[in-house]
Amino acid sequence: MSLFNICSWTCVLVCIACTSGRSLTSSKPQPRSLLDEKNKDHWRIQAQWTLRSKVSVPLKTNVAKNVIFFLGDGMSITTLAATRVYLGRKHGYLGEEVKLSFETFPFTGLSKTYCVDNNVADSACSGTAYLTGVKANSGTVGLSGAVRRGDCEGQRDTTNSVTGLMDWAQQAGKSTGIVTTTRVTHATPAAAYAHSADRKWEADVDMPRHGLRCEDIASQLVRGRVGSSIDVVLGGGRKNFYPTTEKDAQGYFGIRNDGRNLIREWLLRKESLGARPKYVYNKHDLQNIDSTYNSVLGLFSSDHMPYHLEAEEDDPTLSEMTQKAIEILSQNKNGYFLFVEGGRIDTAHHETKARKALDETAELAKAVEAALRLVNIENTLIVVTSDHSHTMTYSGYSKRGTDILGLTNTKYNASDNLPYSTLSYANGPGFKPHEDFKRHNLMLDDMNNLNYTYPSLVPLPRETHGGEDVAVFAKGPWSHLFSGNYEQNYIPHAIAYASCIGPGLTTCKL
Ligand SMILES: *[C@@H]1O[C@H](CO)[C@@H](O)[C@H](O)[C@H]1NC(C)=O
Ligand SMILES: *[C@@H]1O[C@H](CO)[C@@H](O)[C@H](O)[C@H]1NC(C)=O
Ligand SMILES: [Zn+2]
Repeated sequence: MSLFNICSWTCVLVCIACTSGRSLTSSKPQPRSLLDEKNKDHWRIQAQWTLRSKVSVPLKTNVAKNVIFFLGDGMSITTLAATRVYLGRKHGYLGEEVKLSFETFPFTGLSKTYCVDNNVADSACSGTAYLTGVKANSGTVGLSGAVRRGDCEGQRDTTNSVTGLMDWAQQAGKSTGIVTTTRVTHATPAAAYAHSADRKWEADVDMPRHGLRCEDIASQLVRGRVGSSIDVVLGGGRKNFYPTTEKDAQGYFGIRNDGRNLIREWLLRKESLGARPKYVYNKHDLQNIDSTYNSVLGLFSSDHMPYHLEAEEDDPTLSEMTQKAIEILSQNKNGYFLFVEGGRIDTAHHETKARKALDETAELAKAVEAALRLVNIENTLIVVTSDHSHTMTYSGYSKRGTDILGLTNTKYNASDNLPYSTLSYANGPGFKPHEDFKRHNLMLDDMNNLNYTYPSLVPLPRETHGGEDVAVFAKGPWSHLFSGNYEQNYIPHAIAYASCIGPGLTTCKL
């Protein structure tokens, strides 16, 4: 067997979701054995292959016509390591040795996520940082650090407004899109198009009652300069678009008090702008959109979209939404900017439901893989990162290939002679009340239940975010700009440089 053959075989083994278009479901499980790893040549060949792939690839310095920015909300580095094992075991590997689709990207970096006011970020201030290039205060979107959370006057003063990648791409004549598994008005997607002193002001009913005259986020998506120019918006959150007097497709009433039906307004607005718009609310209709439409609003749930593990036939997956968005946006000969959020990794972590968090991370990895199959990587920059970490830890020392969602090797109980789980949280709802100052015996629990709340040390109704750096993965033109350790607000500046958009330095305008 030639060196090349051994190497490519090794790479298939270490990369179950790589760019070859090999689908996860069709991959033939390898025997789960450590036979190869016990051979020193296995490691030498694998490392040489990695080295070869790095030294032989020239830096790409052409313009990125298209950009796809993937964001795993709350996707900490620990989450990535645990998801590899979760996904790998599912496909018949030991798990630890595999890579998620984007972990094969040639350049990685670390981003510092703290906000102007708090040491640990929330999705609003960090969204503002990585989408507009300006760090902000917690709870605020699209506003500078001069505006405190809840300061409506500060929001109304337009000198405090900041815009970024969406705006810059639109001004450069590119198409733009947002895909998310949360409400499309939730903090992360809102940071792409809105200016709100409080991330909670998603609909008019969310505004404080004492006469504050600030525009809610859903309204800004339909009427705002940047919001109304977005060509593709796919996600959840229908309730924020309907009045309390109207039911949506699933029979849920809207929550708006101002009587407005924003979906109707969106369609009229798009038509007046000369677009060919389409509104859809289920997977079937999404998949049947053809190229006669160049503008799509898809709202697939009244609230957040369901977790992938709980989704039904009619719910599109993140991959399906991403594919359709790319198809529609690719019609523009000037290129596009697409923002894709795996938003439920974060909500699962807050509930310490680690199984759901890992599964949602696997879904994001699949969406990246789906995108890689559709785009030309020679002119498309793909960046994958997270907004902040969480408090989940990955403890030793289990045997290789052990269920990541189970207990560690019970040969090594803790000092109280009770077992402990591989994954646990520093805080959150998984705190199990102590009886007689003894720790709860986890062997009594059903850890296979997808709603199982993993143990936490400190009792809190919602587990908190974590403050350490998150990873950034990049592939395509100028992806080497994303290596190193930098502030989170550097990311959109580097994307703008690569794609020749925005007011700063670009590769077209030195
Ligand atoms: C670890 O704790 C479990 C639960 O109490 C017990 O069944 C098991 O025997 C213990 N293992 C050892 C090696 O003591
Ligand atoms: C998990 O919890 C959700 C609600 O949060 C519930 O709808 C679902 O039935 C639960 N699933 C299981 C398997 O317990
Ligand atoms: Zn969160």
